[in-house]
Amino acid sequence: MKYTVYFLLTILLFISCKKTPEKALSTYTPLRGNITQKAMVVSAREEASKIGTEIMKKGGNAFDAMVATEMALAVAYPFAGSLGGGGFMVYRKADGETGALDYREKAPLAATKDMYLDENGEVVSEKSQVGALAIGVPGTIAGIFAVHKKFGTLPIEEILTPVVALANRGFVITEKQKLRFDHFKDLFIEVNKDTILFANSFNTGDTLKNKQLAITLERIIKNGASEFYTGETGKKLVNRVQEYGGIITMEDLAKYEAKWREPVRFTYNDLSIISMSPPSSGGVCLAQIMKMIEPYDLSKYGHNQTKTIQVITEAERRAYADRSFYLGDPDFTKIPIDTLIGEPYLQERMADFSFEKATLSSAINCGMIPGYESDETTHYSIVDQFGNAISVTITLNGAYGSKLYAPEIGTFLNNEMDDFSAKPGVPNMFGLIGAEANAIAPEKRMLSSMTPTIVEKEGKFWMSVGTPGGSTIITSVLQTILNVKEFGMTMQDAVNAPRFHHQWLPDVVVFEPNLFDTAILDSLRQKGYKIDEETSKIIGKVDGILVLPDGTLEGGADRRGDDTAVGF
Ligand code: DON
Repeated sequence: MKYTVYFLLTILLFISCKKTPEKALSTYTPLRGNITQKAMVVSAREEASKIGTEIMKKGGNAFDAMVATEMALAVAYPFAGSLGGGGFMVYRKADGETGALDYREKAPLAATKDMYLDENGEVVSEKSQVGALAIGVPGTIAGIFAVHKKFGTLPIEEILTPVVALANRGFVITEKQKLRFDHFKDLFIEVNKDTILFANSFNTGDTLKNKQLAITLERIIKNGASEFYTGETGKKLVNRVQEYGGIITMEDLAKYEAKWREPVRFTYNDLSIISMSPPSSGGVCLAQIMKMIEPYDLSKYGHNQTKTIQVITEAERRAYADRSFYLGDPDFTKIPIDTLIGEPYLQERMADFSFEKATLSSAINCGMIPGYESDETTHYSIVDQFGNAISVTITLNGAYGSKLYAPEIGTFLNNEMDDFSAKPGVPNMFGLIGAEANAIAPEKRMLSSMTPTIVEKEGKFWMSVGTPGGSTIITSVLQTILNVKEFGMTMQDAVNAPRFHHQWLPDVVVFEPNLFDTAILDSLRQKGYKIDEETSKIIGKVDGILVLPDGTLEGGADRRGDDTAVGF
């Protein structure tokens, strides 16, 4: 319970709590994000966006820049960037080829279905959220090396040397980072039974060097991914985890591999959307929601107006109900993706929707599919000067993951095991409910909500977008795409605009506080919607890149964080 409170507070601290209400649209002058001619990186930290951009300036492509950006985030954004987590990448090459990489963590070989239940069969959520037992086998290093092997053009040494330099030289602590470090200091010390680098008292503007991470990265430059999975770094990781009661072994590390997957692809009016496939629920849920709302004229209803909120909420309700039942690791669970995102099924799903009153979540279950047998995070987008585009979301799950730090490596380790369904019907830290499809099993990947997404318009690359935010990731990506497509916003306004979220259960619609018209919220209440303006100060922290009609790139770096768009 204590840790759940920590988590909620994290969400509050996650970003600034700017309270400036949106200006009335009629008086509003659109805000354009950074505009560049050829290439751009938008990420949670300026240092990471700059390092990725420098790699492209040297002639590297978006994939080279991905490797550098991801590792720079491990240095400068330990809240979610690390060597001890995992992620997903969706790409679209200049020639139109699309694909996806899954470097999600997986359950250790010794994991069991009931490993987080007590003797009475009740979930002990602390165990899946904090400390060594919460850690899934990390995928990050396998991920960046898989990308480099397939698409990289510069030597790994050239790509990672600037990151080593950043770790040695240090990064400047922002105000938001200082608040987060202060907030977690005691928990870091409690979980690690000792102080750690990030448990020092910092002031805004201090420089934080991570020499140990620099040394680890140098070993990785020399020995490649095997340094992490079978070498000295792996041994240091396993020793640390086992010393603190975890179950990850060298065999787990040796067996880990990143997997190339077919992304989910669907259309929404004249857009073609490419998003992450299972083991993320992101692409499937996004497709379901967008296909369910496609018949409605949102641009006529208006941005964040009653009817728009109703249609989106009702589509979200139905998609998240399906998520909880059907989705899990595709290597373990048969997922009827084509049916789930097919128009006949989704039309049927929305058939009982009425503008008159809210559907109750208790009246919605997963849809019936004939013939089917049951069986804290960060995002960055990159576009290069060659026309390649990528969209990457990575995570340690909660803030600083399990809070267990590996001092000899210089990184935090994830608490991704909480993304499994520890027991059918019992919500995880994001309130998400799961069933057999997402039950724990050795070597299984836990279901994610991460939704790195690429959008094409008229057959050409148009947008790369994604966000952190747990269960709110899917709905934040959705609203950002709609903000540009339906409501004509700039990329920057689209990521800044106030957001709301619904996920079937609990049966509430969460709104960012004080940013929505009270008359609209009242009209929703009258129709039976439960409105919650308390739970989340912010929903998502979206980063994206949009191609403007003249071919230049506009970055959208969310005002809710320290996010920055850099390019040339
Ligand atoms: O994969 C997932 O869906 C979660 N582990 C993401 C966690 C997250 O976004 C945390 N940020 N608030």
